[in-house]
Amino acid sequence: MRSKANFKTHPIHPMLIGFPISFFYGALIFDVLSLVLNKPLFFSIAYVMSICGIVSGLLAAIPGIVDYMYTVPPKSSAKKRASKHGLINSSALLLFLISIAVRSGESPAYYLLIIELAGVVCITIGGWLGGTLVYRNQIGVDIRYADAGKWKEVNANPILNNQEVGTIGELMNNQMKLIHLDGKRIVLARTQNGFVAFDDHCTHKGGSLAGGALICDTVQCPWHGSQFNVKTGEVTAGPATKGIKTYKVEIKDGKLFLQS
Ligand code: FES
Repeated sequence: MRSKANFKTHPIHPMLIGFPISFFYGALIFDVLSLVLNKPLFFSIAYVMSICGIVSGLLAAIPGIVDYMYTVPPKSSAKKRASKHGLINSSALLLFLISIAVRSGESPAYYLLIIELAGVVCITIGGWLGGTLVYRNQIGVDIRYADAGKWKEVNANPILNNQEVGTIGELMNNQMKLIHLDGKRIVLARTQNGFVAFDDHCTHKGGSLAGGALICDTVQCPWHGSQFNVKTGEVTAGPATKGIKTYKVEIKDGKLFLQS
């Protein structure tokens, strides 16, 4: 599922998250050192690091929110995981904000270290969940199977375009295109036997089928490998047990129209 917040196809959120993680760990380490070594300079460095951590965390959150809204498949296990990821990381920012507010004197109080430690624990758990979102749920991964062509994704306006979703020349065999239509995510695909359309929602845990592989009228979900017949919607291999909804595609004057 290609990231919506990307720079030349590279997702921006993972590029930025190293900064708040490093600054928050650094702030805690310098505060501990300032207490142990009695060095007020280290206490000031920790203060600056806390501010940098919050600012960089807020910046990293912007592409993260864009991906949460537009890249993570709705009603999926990844959406729940991404919600937890966002909440835990927000807690880390809040804890470091509190640590700045209660910071005073020339060395850290014990309660300040406890607040920072809690913030560091939160950012670590948030990072762990973020890793699962990328490495297991493939959020932001631009998957390209052989001959599957480039990732295609469009917003179609059903009223203006009368359900027009593409043209016959734009897809090669076994290439898919993700269409946002009327609040739904529908995959338009070309197979050896013509054009097909089906819901972009694996009935197992909500994986995006547009990010999977299509071959011989079968689409395979990228998360756990469930397979569906794209003409009938039937499950041909589990773990999914329920079929997917399919739609009729009509061709008129070289244009493709979706019939519900
Ligand atoms: S979400 Fe598990 S196989 Fe699709």
